[in-house]
Amino acid sequence: MNILVCGGAGYIGSHMCKRLARSGHVPIVFDNLSTGHDWAVKWGPLVRGDLLDSDALSQTFRDHIIDAVMHFAARSIVNESIRESALYLRNNVDGTRHLLDAMHAAGVGKLVFSSSAAVYGNPEYTPIDEAHPCAPINPYGQSKLMAEQAIEQHCHARGLYAVALRYFNAAGADADGEIGEAHEPETHLIPNIVRAALDPVRGSVKIFGDDYPTPDGTCIRDYVHVEDLCEAHLLALDHLERHAGFAAFNLGCGQGNSVAEVLAACRAHCAGAPACETVPRREGDPAVLVASHVAAAETLGWKPQHTLDDCVTSALAWHKKTA
Ligand code: UFG
Repeated sequence: MNILVCGGAGYIGSHMCKRLARSGHVPIVFDNLSTGHDWAVKWGPLVRGDLLDSDALSQTFRDHIIDAVMHFAARSIVNESIRESALYLRNNVDGTRHLLDAMHAAGVGKLVFSSSAAVYGNPEYTPIDEAHPCAPINPYGQSKLMAEQAIEQHCHARGLYAVALRYFNAAGADADGEIGEAHEPETHLIPNIVRAALDPVRGSVKIFGDDYPTPDGTCIRDYVHVEDLCEAHLLALDHLERHAGFAAFNLGCGQGNSVAEVLAACRAHCAGAPACETVPRREGDPAVLVASHVAAAETLGWKPQHTLDDCVTSALAWHKKTA
């Protein structure tokens, strides 16, 4: 199939393109390169364009025969979303609406959407399943929920088939070291630890709070390898061959690791142990976020294959290459 990959120059999108190509599909990347990289587009053509530019989008659907769309293009930094909520609504929600309209006009009826655990907000129980109330606590989570709702409306009104995949903490890098996480600024835990270990001049890793109600006092997250996320997208694409309407699935390993445990895993694999300092809690961080992936397992047949150690070692290999 020819798959339009919006945001295919970004972290998860570029890994998806590699996976699609390996499965015999052609990924056509549509990306404004605001946070993505042209060097990460290696498995199909790159159309440099913005989802807010309806003409560019329509032209892309005219220039290529598209069988389905995978939509990763979004701003995704929680703190930035608090400072610049309008940007997040425009980019993540309006951008998705433009894409839906362009797909409808072009007669393209299948969409896999990159969503987030941020749609749930503060967990009322854990592990979080898809029946958990959606009550986002920041504009990023709100924008992902609103985009999901727009997609669901299109499913009802226009017969779109769509799956939203709610990632927990995406981590790790391509096993061949060809691509990896390359954010600037980097806010995520694993790349920050790995970068600090590789380059001590960078300064110490900040541990945001050690007074949470968890066994070691640091926050617990569900780290899921980027290659497992890509596998889930392929399964979702297959699901859309047989299932109409809208469905959302959590993607996490169903197991949590604390910040201290992630640090220990990094120390076990890094030659230089990164210096750490505990600082006050980061605003808006729930103590524990762990997924129930029962629905993805039962309905899509998804089973994550990678461990936290795999996330750390592949991230380390990638950052060593780019250091
Ligand atoms: N952390 C640190 N030091 C750092 C970076 C992070 O202690 O330098 C801690 C955070 O406080 C948190 C944990 O490490 O407890 C993980 O933080 P990340 O920034 O790596 O990831 P988040 O859990 O904040 O973010 C993830 C996704 C977001 C999503 C969010 C909420 O990356 O897209 O979960 O579901 F919005």
